[in-house]
Amino acid sequence: MEGQGSKVPGCKVVLLGDSGVGKTCIITRFVSSSFDANMTSTNGASYCTKLVKYEQLGKNLLLDVWDTAGQEKYRSLTKFFYKDAAAVILVYDITREDSFENMKNYWYNQLLENCDKNVVLGVVGNKCDLFEEEKVTEADAREFADKIGAIFELTSAQNNTGITEIFQEVGNKYLDPNFQQKIKQVEKEKNEEGKESKIGRASCRERV
Ligand code: GTP
Repeated sequence: MEGQGSKVPGCKVVLLGDSGVGKTCIITRFVSSSFDANMTSTNGASYCTKLVKYEQLGKNLLLDVWDTAGQEKYRSLTKFFYKDAAAVILVYDITREDSFENMKNYWYNQLLENCDKNVVLGVVGNKCDLFEEEKVTEADAREFADKIGAIFELTSAQNNTGITEIFQEVGNKYLDPNFQQKIKQVEKEKNEEGKESKIGRASCRERV
């Protein structure tokens, strides 16, 4: 493990998906080990923090886990909360085909438009305790996850299935030295683009 006094790195993880798929319940299960069957809908966004040990890599990571409102009326507001995410977990409800279609066609496109290209991606099919009412097959969901290079997990916030696993896998990928290298490369490119646009602006001012 890291030496005493060394700063624990942080990682902003944002959950996105339609209203009612179980984002708040997944986070509550992960952070507080509890489940509320009468959870009310999220307004805007909120976050909580959890220190997670990644034994294999001998590292700790401070996860800032952001919950966002799935309701349409909050969509322009929630963009501000996920644009600087290091990891995004797209959530659908296995009993609701519309939530899977919206995840693929709306939420994934939103993250492509608003997030960095080096974001760690996860796809989660929640409410797997309701497998008898399944409307989205695991094979279809895995196929989509593979296509976008995302980690895939079936979860149940109610039964505590797959919850620790998805956050563990997201953190493992984020901490992976190859991935950290990719982050540095993208940061470098962004800084260079920034310098170029400053030079562009300076020469525009000169012409005025
Ligand atoms: P918004 O805040 O509106 O975006 O919704 P959300 O995605 O945060 O959903 P929320 O966590 O509030 O859960 C919606 C409903 O689904 C609640 O009634 C939960 O009790 C229920 N629920 C969440 N997770 C599970 C699960 O794993 N299994 C079952 N059976 N129900 C769940």
